[in-house]
Amino acid sequence: MKILAIHGSPRDSGNTELLLNAFIEGLREGKVEIEKIKLYQLKFSPCIECGECDHLGECVLQDDMTWLYDKYLDADFLVVATPIFFYSHTSMVQAFFERFQAFWARKYKLNLPHPYGKTPKGILLSLGATKGKKLFESLVRTFKFVMDAGWGTYAGGLFFRGIDKKGEILNYPEILEKAKTLGKEVATLPEDKWSLDKSSTP
Ligand SMILES: Cc1cc2nc3c(=O)[nH]c(=O)nc-3n(C[C@H](O)[C@H](O)[C@H](O)COP(=O)(O)O)c2cc1C
Repeated sequence: MKILAIHGSPRDSGNTELLLNAFIEGLREGKVEIEKIKLYQLKFSPCIECGECDHLGECVLQDDMTWLYDKYLDADFLVVATPIFFYSHTSMVQAFFERFQAFWARKYKLNLPHPYGKTPKGILLSLGATKGKKLFESLVRTFKFVMDAGWGTYAGGLFFRGIDKKGEILNYPEILEKAKTLGKEVATLPEDKWSLDKSSTP
């Protein structure tokens, strides 16, 4: 089982990264291959809407997404960890998502299947500073479309409110424990046993 774990905050060792690390710690209790990627360390652009993927089924941009596309296609899980910025994911995560347009074109314009016949599962790990009722609504909606474009499905996520300052999540060991437990469940148990929040407005 291969897991592509995307860290989408620009803040190194911030709250989301600590959350993702706890999840990964749990994953390591099973037999999984994990690749953790920090988007802020990469150089890639958002979709430039050139339309080339519509007939090629591939993105013509040559940047760090070129190899990241292959990592996604090889993965059984895509885990995206992002803080909430302006009621959505960060702009780096948005750029990453936009580049799934090449998969969308391959799937829906050219009617091509996933090259290895996989149906990857998408998991979100997210948090924000406020207590907004609809804080994660936009992220969840977008991610569902992204996973669909990538021949996959959204499995659910973990979402936490009221976490702001760098490292503040360490004041909530129960949150990190939840993420670790989820990681272990994903690596060792069938999907119906995973303690994920599947709501559209978590
Ligand atoms: C540009 C920016 C926009 C933000 N927008 C929101 C927001 O709309 N709602 C919210 O609850 N928190 C918002 N936050 C707070 C972050 O979600 C919060 O500080 C989070 O803990 C940061 O996680 P990190 O340490 O992983 O980067 C924003 C922070 C920044 C820097």
